[in-house]
Amino acid sequence: MTSKPILRVLEGEAVWPPPVWLMRQAGRYLPEYRAIKDSSGGFIARCTTPDLATEITLQPVRRFAMDAAILFSDILILPWALGQDVAFKDGHGPVLTPIRTEADLAALSFARAVDAVAPVMETVRRVRAALPEACTLIGFAGAPFTVACYMIEGGGSRDFAETKRMAFGAPALFARLMDVLVQSTITYLSAQIEAGAETVMLFDTWAGLLSPLQFRLHVVEPARLIVEALNARHPGVKVIGFPRLAGMYAGFYAEQTGVDCVALDTGTDPAQAAARLPDSVAVQGNLDPIALLTGGAALRAETLSILDALAGRPHIFNLGHGILPQTDPDHVAELVEFLRSR
Ligand code: CP3
Repeated sequence: MTSKPILRVLEGEAVWPPPVWLMRQAGRYLPEYRAIKDSSGGFIARCTTPDLATEITLQPVRRFAMDAAILFSDILILPWALGQDVAFKDGHGPVLTPIRTEADLAALSFARAVDAVAPVMETVRRVRAALPEACTLIGFAGAPFTVACYMIEGGGSRDFAETKRMAFGAPALFARLMDVLVQSTITYLSAQIEAGAETVMLFDTWAGLLSPLQFRLHVVEPARLIVEALNARHPGVKVIGFPRLAGMYAGFYAEQTGVDCVALDTGTDPAQAAARLPDSVAVQGNLDPIALLTGGAALRAETLSILDALAGRPHIFNLGHGILPQTDPDHVAELVEFLRSR
């Protein structure tokens, strides 16, 4: 039997007070991360140098005694590993050479990807060996639709219109890209689990941009295939799904995909989402990251309202989206202390 609080919650237990970690907990709001960033030669180098990635992964665990470490990497490491040109420019976000044709797709290489992510697996092994006893190591990948968004669009976008245009207008090409992503995500997450990740999370940041029909095809079905394959290969390993901006589908998504935990975005009412979930499915979330900018009374009120809404259920406390770079680390400490004093 496991005694790690996060794993207990993922097994369906209502642990009180709920364990906590924060999306993007390793990153630019931490002075110790900025110190490494300035001398480490680029974001992809930080993700693929085990010494650096291990240190960065452990920084928030050390500083806040978080209940989980999340591997320091990015959802776009997979397209990079497959051979797409991916660059992270400061202040611009990611820039990719877009995949728009059969030839672009044919240039991606699954075999290359397996080699390219080897340093990430070394990081997972090192982090796992260094973690405090109660802390859970979370591996992750982008969900196929969100990764396809960046691959097709070539970067961020307000509406990912090119991606949706391909899904509607060139469905066979889109389906082949999604199939490459489903298969490589299964291999990638499976390798993380074999290296020591104790649970994995699928980030579907742009799930909520899709029509109900497209949501079933490109969010639910790929997640179902990934969960099914991981369950078959690694019985007992739990999966967290984050269909962002699609909280109204939380129950449907959990039921159809088989995830063990649904992460909620800030705009989703946790009580309403929980009411649509089977009792054994955990909820993760969903504090507004902006409440962490101010701290104080508003932070406590928001936190209490989430705790109340999910009391008695398996719940992992988290944000509804990633922590913002301007966040004062003392406010994170304040949040963790407040939760642990419940
Ligand atoms: O959560 C963690 O601490 C683990 C690491 C992690 C990163 N990105 C590090 C990162 C995780 C889990 C991600 C997920 C990710 N990456 C998502 C899904 C979750 C979400 O936030 O919606 C998405 C859409 C991406 C793609 C991405 N990566 C964008 C759009 C950007 C630029 C915007 C930004 O925040 O800078 C990145 C860069 C990125 N990924 C940084 C970090 C720490 C910042 C770059 C740097 O520090 O040099």
